[in-house]
Amino acid sequence: MIDRDSYETLDPENWDDMRQLAHRMVDDALDYIESARERPVWTPVPDQVATDLTTPAPVGASNPAEVYDEFLEKIMPYNLHTNHPRFWAWYMGSGNVTGALADFLAAVLNPNVGGISHVAPLVEQQVIGWIKDMMSFPESSSGLLTSGASMANFTALTVARNTRCGYDVRRDGVRAAPGLLTVYASTEIHSCNQKAIETLGLGSDGLRQVRVNEDYTIDLEALEQQIVADRAAGMVPFCVIATAGTINTGAIDDMSAIADLCARENLWFHVDGAIGAVAVLAENVRDQLAGMERADSIALDLHKWMHIPFEAGCVVVRDSSAHRDSFALVPEYLQRDEDGGGLASGSVWFSDYGLQLTRQFRALKVWMSIKEHGLARFGRMIARNVDQAHYLGRLVEQAPELELTGPIGLDIVCFRYNPGGFDTEALNRLNRNLLNKLQQGGVAAPSYTTLNGAYCLRVAISNHRSRFEDFDLMVEEVIGLGQKLT
Ligand SMILES: Cc1ncc(COP(=O)(O)O)c(C=O)c1O
Repeated sequence: MIDRDSYETLDPENWDDMRQLAHRMVDDALDYIESARERPVWTPVPDQVATDLTTPAPVGASNPAEVYDEFLEKIMPYNLHTNHPRFWAWYMGSGNVTGALADFLAAVLNPNVGGISHVAPLVEQQVIGWIKDMMSFPESSSGLLTSGASMANFTALTVARNTRCGYDVRRDGVRAAPGLLTVYASTEIHSCNQKAIETLGLGSDGLRQVRVNEDYTIDLEALEQQIVADRAAGMVPFCVIATAGTINTGAIDDMSAIADLCARENLWFHVDGAIGAVAVLAENVRDQLAGMERADSIALDLHKWMHIPFEAGCVVVRDSSAHRDSFALVPEYLQRDEDGGGLASGSVWFSDYGLQLTRQFRALKVWMSIKEHGLARFGRMIARNVDQAHYLGRLVEQAPELELTGPIGLDIVCFRYNPGGFDTEALNRLNRNLLNKLQQGGVAAPSYTTLNGAYCLRVAISNHRSRFEDFDLMVEEVIGLGQKLT
């Protein structure tokens, strides 16, 4: 029964109480970040909490303060503490306070940034303009904020496929391709690109993974030979992906050489710069990224080395028409009325540049974070992480029981405990065990990879809170655990 006299909404029943609760939330949130260093880097979820989190949705209402108390008890302590100064696992950013508050404000404003005439698309446009400048892309290029680099790569690869395969892929689909459509990258390519290529209908065989050199950069000769051989075999090469900072070792492909190759072979030149693209801001990295500015498209992450709270990625595309032609689809109910002066008069419709129609205001946290800190400070944080990686490298080299297992690329250090006398399998087991103990102890959280058969600890230092002494502490802990375990 609908009660027509009811004024029920989802707004607070008592605004003063809600205001007090909201202030408490802000205080607790700031305490949480301020005290990040004091807590263990990881606290596993207790069984009871996991069980509590399987209950069905409540049908009745509760007091918001009680809901918040449950958050404090069951969720906050078992968070993945990416904001901890010794969180160095996989490849994440450590967030920033203004970015977090901006995300709250974005949710309060709650605009839909697919298009329409309002201010949020203009904020996103400005942020994209800043990123285009950082990447030395022309003003005529286009861009889109995405959930992360996976979606940014997917978006760019869609444009590449639709633009460089020689026929109308949007209309005729991949079934009309004159041969297998192929994309080229190194064996160190991030898996999200394979997912994108599979989703684009090319099949995983459509990704040709070329061997790498000793420094884990793509072997250019092998790349060229593969393209020539594939063409001769009737395939349709259309894109090369260079990686600016591989996930395993932070290697940066030779982007100038790949740009030349793509120009010669008429291929789309895409850069997966999820990790390294924003390092153009850092003096001690910038030169290694030469050639990236010649790309047709770049995917990058702002939630990694720029520490924007998750999720924030970006794609930029040199040819904005090609970008729009790949995604724009405007039915009657989304027709624009630029001269009408109403809601539909907005000139910036990001829904024309990607898969999503409804889009969150993720630009606000980027805009406010960059305004507060300025690009130079981000550059200094990145440069320091690179310096810290080499500091850690020296600590490893100085310790007889430790060894580097790969070259240090950007801010990624791979090493293992090796006191001698173990075969490969036993060493791998020992290091896996050691890493689990290190994480359980809560002192530091590197992750792992396997390089040339050697399982190793992998420290990815995209963390603006890490201090040099944090690496001394981790090395001491690793050696101590290694000695205990052997
Ligand atoms: C090189 C590279 N590309 C793409 C991705 C995927 O990015 P995201 O997790 O932001 O989607 C990552 C993630 O670590 C990466 O390192």
